[in-house]
Amino acid sequence: MSKSLKWGIIGCGHIAGKFAEDISLVEDNELYAVASRSQEKAQAFAHKYQVQKSYGDYDAICKDEKVDIIYLATPHNSHLKYGLKVLNQGKHLLCEKPMAVNSEQVSDLINASQKNGVFLMEALWSRFNPSIQTILRRINNGDIGAVKYINADFYFKKDFEPSHRLFDPALAGGALLDIGVYPLFLSYLILGLPKAILSNSRLHSNGIDLQTSVILQYESAQSILSFGIETKSDMLGCINGEKGSFQLHDRWHETQSYSHIQNDMREIYNLPTLGYGYTHEIMECYNCISNGKSQSEYWSHQDSLNLIGMCDTIRRQNGIKYPFEIL
Ligand SMILES: NC(=O)c1ccc[n+]([C@@H]2O[C@H](COP(=O)([O-])OP(=O)(O)OC[C@H]3O[C@@H](n4cnc5c(N)ncnc54)[C@H](OP(=O)(O)O)[C@@H]3O)[C@@H](O)[C@H]2O)c1
Repeated sequence: MSKSLKWGIIGCGHIAGKFAEDISLVEDNELYAVASRSQEKAQAFAHKYQVQKSYGDYDAICKDEKVDIIYLATPHNSHLKYGLKVLNQGKHLLCEKPMAVNSEQVSDLINASQKNGVFLMEALWSRFNPSIQTILRRINNGDIGAVKYINADFYFKKDFEPSHRLFDPALAGGALLDIGVYPLFLSYLILGLPKAILSNSRLHSNGIDLQTSVILQYESAQSILSFGIETKSDMLGCINGEKGSFQLHDRWHETQSYSHIQNDMREIYNLPTLGYGYTHEIMECYNCISNGKSQSEYWSHQDSLNLIGMCDTIRRQNGIKYPFEIL
């Protein structure tokens, strides 16, 4: 690809701003247009991040012929609806995690990407984090021996606000789909799909999960994972093998460093991200699109399906239902 990749962003919220900053750090990538449900908000965002075009609705940006790829940064429940709009307009899509709220919806997005011959990736940015990339390579290299136990959590504290996307069942609120996907991803990345999942959630009276703990059972290993939105935690990712351990430092999903622990000796490796760390997934989108690929080999369509499949199971086990679907 000789020209730069022109990005559009749908949804001018919290994460969109950080992503906009990171695009400016990546060579050959340009944030060209943004769309909000409100023209004023789109204009203010465009002004702040020096973006050429701003749209006051999501349809118009999908029709802008200059936009190559859309970063979709709206609440989870809307990823299917807006994602289909983007893909059916023949544009590439980087869709915030989770790609959609259940397996059926994720399959619909994948089918639309295949039908339209465009690139689609879930924005599972931790997959491209330099420390996580490195420990994966070292685990595959046998540096800690066979992995027997993974322990990872993801907690933060947010005061209850009924209409906030984190708490609103109509927006697929709750810990599982917002942050639970990260510890599930870590275990899946290293050990693959488990043969059994045991989970237990504490639900709010409105039906969303405030806290969930999970045991993933593998043939010769176990993972213990926990996530919630009412307190903080250590936010470490610990991968323990027969010969040693890797520890991803806090907050492990966006970590800047990791430790290798062997025979009670700890070696620390600093591997800072570029910007916030969204840069690495932006580079992956650029590389895939430049090479005519419709998916990434590092976080493929099947990986997104497997991840949401685990979430579906946990939701079934705990009766987590959203008002707009029957699981
Ligand atoms: N990768 C990460 O590190 C990370 C971190 C946080 C969140 N996320 C993901 O990114 C997505 C957005 O999260 P966020 O924290 O940025 O959320 P947010 O701050 O609430 O922003 C979401 C934006 O979506 C748009 N939107 C469209 N329909 C909406 C509705 N019915 N209610 C509320 N907003 C609506 C709004 O933009 P307009 O008003 O401009 O239309 C809103 O500003 C989620 O899927 C989440 O899982 C990823």
